[in-house]
Amino acid sequence: MHPINVPKLSTDENIFILGIESSCDDTAAAVINNGVVLSNVVATQKIHEAYGGVVPELASRAHQQNIVPVVHEALRLANIDKKDVSAIAFTQGPGLMGSLLVGSSFSKSFAMGMDVPLVSVNHMQAHILAHFIKADEQRAPAFPFIALTISGGHTQLVKVNDYFDMEIIGETLDDAVGEAFDKAAKILGLSYPGGPLLDKLAQKGNPSRFPFPKPKVGPLEFSFSGLKTAVLYFVEKETKNDPNFVQENLEDICAGLQTTIVEYLMEKLQNAVDMTGINEIAIGGGVSANSGIRKALKDAELERGWRTYIPNFEYCTDNAAMIAMVGELKYKTGQFSETDIVSKARMRL
Ligand code: KG4
Ligand code: ZN
Repeated sequence: MHPINVPKLSTDENIFILGIESSCDDTAAAVINNGVVLSNVVATQKIHEAYGGVVPELASRAHQQNIVPVVHEALRLANIDKKDVSAIAFTQGPGLMGSLLVGSSFSKSFAMGMDVPLVSVNHMQAHILAHFIKADEQRAPAFPFIALTISGGHTQLVKVNDYFDMEIIGETLDDAVGEAFDKAAKILGLSYPGGPLLDKLAQKGNPSRFPFPKPKVGPLEFSFSGLKTAVLYFVEKETKNDPNFVQENLEDICAGLQTTIVEYLMEKLQNAVDMTGINEIAIGGGVSANSGIRKALKDAELERGWRTYIPNFEYCTDNAAMIAMVGELKYKTGQFSETDIVSKARMRL
């Protein structure tokens, strides 16, 4: 095992953390300096569009191709040299194993080559701690707060007591909300990933023409697999009468679906507020880019008296700035990893 060069901690040190994210189909690198993002580079893998979903084997190959140029670009944009990096932080999990291994192998090699500490990061924790990135339009939530993490792989309600003290209080029993967006979009003939496209169409549609059922589960639980089936049956039934039904009503169908999902998420958040007494609400993960949920949360500030926090767009979907942010918080609290640390496809908060 390679010995770690653990730094002496001092609060006023000027530290530069290089963050690496490769858990799914985005190869990302970022540099953060005392909470301020100096660069945030993401190479999105277009190759998966042709398959209507992420192909794990192709994702790891593309990470292999992208990782060195992406890191190079992140250092260049941050205007620093690799010798200036204080520590390297990488996503340990959860995610696709082949994808995670590319980021972890790169990071271990960098740590050894440059003799800097290695910091492992939980991807879901990073989506939550992205709120602590210092940016003009972004405020940080106060502890304790409720985080709703909504991504392509996860849907969780988390009580966040402190940076590294988090408790999952509810989650999905089946599909994640991003998956529900993507699967519904696929049934409607939209290309992958369908979530952002469905969102765009929904903004032009009538939300009340086609309501969809909301699955009944526990107050803090979610279920989305029934919604996908409901969309499939609805489309099958309507296209029997009119083969052009989807094309002719696409915006209204998307608006109906988006409204159903947003109302469902807001109901769960209300339950969490009622049950915990906490009305400090932060969202994270790719689906927090959704215009419907962003608007509903802004409205809740006035209508429900909540304080809501939505990360800047570039820190919602998968990015390495959030990994570097956690890297910095762990660096400052002396939480380093050895070079024999293993990637984890499944990883709890
Ligand atoms: O966090 P993320 O980038 O990757 C994962 O960790 O899964 O989330 C990706 C998910 C995809 O399912 C994508 O369709 C969804 O976030 N997404 C959206 C929007 N932007 C991204 N879903 C709905 N509306 C959007 N605007
Ligand atoms: Zn994510």
